[in-house]
Amino acid sequence: MEKKGKAVLAYSGGLDTSVAVMWLTEQGYDVITMTADVGQQAVDLEAAKNKALRSGASKAYVLDLKKEFVEKFVWPALKANGMYQSTYPLNSALSRPLIAEVMAEIAKKEGAQAVAHGCTGKGQDQVRIEVCTNALNPDLKVLAPVRDWHFTREAEMEYARARGIPVHATAASPYSIDDNIWGRSIECGILEDPWNEPPSDAYTLTVEPWDAPDEPEYVEITFTRGIPTALDGVKMDGPELIESLNVQAGRHGVGRIDMLEDRLVGFKSREVYECPGAITLINAHRALETLTLDKQVLSTKKELEIQFGRLAYEGYWFSPLLDAINSFIDTTQEYVNGTVKVRFFKGQAVVRGMKSSHSIYSQTLATYSEGDAFDHEAAVGFIKIWGLPIKTWRQVHESKEAIDIPAQ
Ligand code: ARG
Repeated sequence: MEKKGKAVLAYSGGLDTSVAVMWLTEQGYDVITMTADVGQQAVDLEAAKNKALRSGASKAYVLDLKKEFVEKFVWPALKANGMYQSTYPLNSALSRPLIAEVMAEIAKKEGAQAVAHGCTGKGQDQVRIEVCTNALNPDLKVLAPVRDWHFTREAEMEYARARGIPVHATAASPYSIDDNIWGRSIECGILEDPWNEPPSDAYTLTVEPWDAPDEPEYVEITFTRGIPTALDGVKMDGPELIESLNVQAGRHGVGRIDMLEDRLVGFKSREVYECPGAITLINAHRALETLTLDKQVLSTKKELEIQFGRLAYEGYWFSPLLDAINSFIDTTQEYVNGTVKVRFFKGQAVVRGMKSSHSIYSQTLATYSEGDAFDHEAAVGFIKIWGLPIKTWRQVHESKEAIDIPAQ
């Protein structure tokens, strides 16, 4: 067999990627696997390592990347209030550039010529991983065995069994799941018909609103430069803080999303997500920005947020435009400091209060009571000049058709 050199494979421990280890080995590759813990619910790293080695890998990396993921990918997304189509907090999309980056790094360390992933030819994860890999190291070959081999699930099981690798005989999950600390994506099966209400069994992080407590619960989230740093006054690191909110918001049924998404690869897809921590944090962060950011900065930022969501979704994480947008956003976040009070109740996370040492809300300007500092006299001149262009226009052009007032 022709030796093809080393390939670094993104390995989940599931059937697809285990078969990929055997298949790539039989094609002549020396396979090195990389299993990342990005906070997914069911990850047994030790078992994944053993399974990779049993399947024929020459080396198996298992890496806890939660901190890296949160600090380098999730926090920039939160600062951008990043949501694709104003709805999807990008949980799956954000982990792909990290995986590409780590694989490229391992490839360099191990002297590998190729990286490989287990994506099918239909999704956008293949696009993200490959576009990011090409951006980071164009010399790396990218292999996508699952896209190329046309195995059915049954054929994959047979293939593995024939090579003495035990595969779970249990019925496959009715859904395709991808999860990490920022949320859980649920696709396929009964969800493919947009008329079908997602069944309760699709969810694992959140409860139905009718099963949520009948009493509201509050949390106070402290932000420092746009990043959450404490819950109820207790300082926490990023992963700890998000995990804690996932549990708290999840038990109130917060963060369920059901959308018809426009995929980069051209078709619409029904997507269900549960992102209790992400939705809570984005709501709180967005609110704190209304208290601390200037009106024009806020409106320009909003336009850039839409672009951020699109670029992150479409695999352009390492693009110059995303870098530039992040620079703008980082400048704005300097003053996004303070505490936001959020109430959880029956599927909702609602902001119920906020305070900031950088607040630009002025009660003496806003008040209708005693102590009003607003200059009422100045309103007269302001209105004259503010309305001048319209007045001038109306003097020259036909006025609008009059409203017919019936005689009284
Ligand atoms: N539609 C989402 C995205 O493209 C979720 C992808 C989930 N991936 C999966 N293998 N189920 O980002």
